[in-house]
Amino acid sequence: MSEVLDTQIGAVRFLSFNRPTKMNALTRDMYGRLAAGLNEAAGDFSVRAVVITSEGDHFTAGNDIVDFMDNPPTGESSEVATFLAALLNFPKPLIAAVKGNAVGVGTTMLLHCDVVVAAPSANFSMPFVTLGLVPEAGSTFLFPALVGYQRAARIFMTGESFSANDALEMGLIAQVNSDALAAARKIAEQIAEQPPQAMINTKALLKARNHDSVAAVMKAEFEIFALALQSDEAMGAFMKFMAKKGSS
Ligand code: COA
Repeated sequence: MSEVLDTQIGAVRFLSFNRPTKMNALTRDMYGRLAAGLNEAAGDFSVRAVVITSEGDHFTAGNDIVDFMDNPPTGESSEVATFLAALLNFPKPLIAAVKGNAVGVGTTMLLHCDVVVAAPSANFSMPFVTLGLVPEAGSTFLFPALVGYQRAARIFMTGESFSANDALEMGLIAQVNSDALAAARKIAEQIAEQPPQAMINTKALLKARNHDSVAAVMKAEFEIFALALQSDEAMGAFMKFMAKKGSS
């Protein structure tokens, strides 16, 4: 079975991470499928909204660390860069339903979503520095713009995680609901009933102010990220993760 499920109910497309035994850690192949799913949904007139969700108890543990070591993304044609570009440019409403861990890109991708619903179990973290890396997905621009420089710097620099209630208070998510997927689906269905062209125009206007800045920051982050992946700091952090895995 595919590690990204792509299903449609009515006018709502659902893209679901489906690798629960690895806490939905995202591989190159999964990024490719997610990018293809978003790009296909963007051009499909029958799709009025997309919900990003997950199978199992967690949203995603972020990029697969084994993949980081074996297939480090290097250029704009890499699967992860293609996914991030699809996310940045997705023209229709994008809703996320989050439960459990949302690590790294699992949190930064939410900065591109229009409505995020999280279960009380949701636990957000962006431990890029801890891993010898730098934040990505435009998050060094979007996160401080959302929560203020001081709070963003503290979260990035310490690698500390935060709860669904913290995320609600910060404005990273719109709602906490014990059935995040059902709540996200309800919102998506409500949105899907609205006039589609007015919806697309409204999203374009909402995103217009930051679009070019975010694209430029994403590019700069990606260049530093690709170099950092080869660094001793990152290699040390990845080996530590692998050693923990081996000993458990
Ligand atoms: N890449 C690859 N595999 C991962 C993974 C990742 N990012 N996150 C979790 N997994 C795998 C684990 O290796 C384990 O697989 P195994 O059973 O074959 O050993 C399985 O998913 C379950 O994870 P585990 O670490 O046992 O769960 P936990 O509850 O003890 O810890 C986390 C949860 C999220 C704290 C821990 O998995 C973790 O730190 N993951 C890495 C997160 C990360 O740094 N992501 C990159 C961000 S840029």
